[in-house]
Amino acid sequence: MTIKHYLQFSDFSLAEYEYLIERARIIKRKFKNYETYHPLLDRTLVMVFEKSSTRTRLSFEAGMAQLGGTAIYLNTRDSQLGRGEPIEDAAQVMSRMCDVIMVRTFGHEIIERFAASSRVPVINGLTNEHHPCQVLADVFTFIEHRQAIRGKTVTWIGDANNMLYSWLQAARIFGFHLNISTPKGYDINYDLVSSDHSYFTLFDDPAKACEGAHLVTTDVWTSMGFEEENAARLKAFDGWCVDAEKMSRAAPDALFMHCLPAHRGEEVTSEVIDGPQSVVWEEAENRLHVQKALLEYLVLDRV
Ligand code: CP
Ligand code: NVA
Repeated sequence: MTIKHYLQFSDFSLAEYEYLIERARIIKRKFKNYETYHPLLDRTLVMVFEKSSTRTRLSFEAGMAQLGGTAIYLNTRDSQLGRGEPIEDAAQVMSRMCDVIMVRTFGHEIIERFAASSRVPVINGLTNEHHPCQVLADVFTFIEHRQAIRGKTVTWIGDANNMLYSWLQAARIFGFHLNISTPKGYDINYDLVSSDHSYFTLFDDPAKACEGAHLVTTDVWTSMGFEEENAARLKAFDGWCVDAEKMSRAAPDALFMHCLPAHRGEEVTSEVIDGPQSVVWEEAENRLHVQKALLEYLVLDRV
């Protein structure tokens, strides 16, 4: 039997996403009503972190407990992973002791090697190239607010990073359009994009990219692992801050999202992220609900 992993957004079909979104709605309602729901009783999630996290750790750990299971946190600092144990050996061992594994790491090839040696489903909790769980939460949040995302325009302002590549895969699957504006020298890497380019448009001017958008989203200018480029990035990204002027070009009821953590005054102003169009706190909370649906699906299949 082939094991289902969730390493990139494109790993699931639209039908699978429709199922997951429905499950996330049901699971969220149960949580809000304090209804006990323990489909993963006696199941264990191992979480491997090679980078820092607040939301990802908390949402997976709390989510697993709420589903009746247990989550175990490992990081590079105090596990053998930090002392050079081969990733394949770690995957073999971990997957004999648990039911599902979440990995946050650097290069995407690391999680692919890990998954290839795992006996249980592996979830991408962020790599340099992809952050599918976050975009799943973002799409779910948009659908909660606006019923559907098909046919809508989503604007990405800023770095061509892991979030953008997951948004690009989501656009193709869900049938929405992405307007993208990245500064010169920080453009998208076409090796990470499908050959069909019909679902996105590139803009030199970030304000133009916002025109008519139903959602404007951005992320930090310097992602984890790229810290030594911070000074150069601060210069290059000047002009790519999502401010009230850019938001005013979008549709009047446009939403603003940011996966967090945010740097107010860099990629977004306080006025926008703390303003009425921002849904960042719901977006963060929805990590919990969509990932519970994801854990349920990967461990138990359809229920
Ligand atoms: N958005 C997100 O993944 O946050 P953390 O880095 O805190 O997990
Ligand atoms: N692009 C950011 C996302 C953090 C959740 C990073 O990789 O650091």
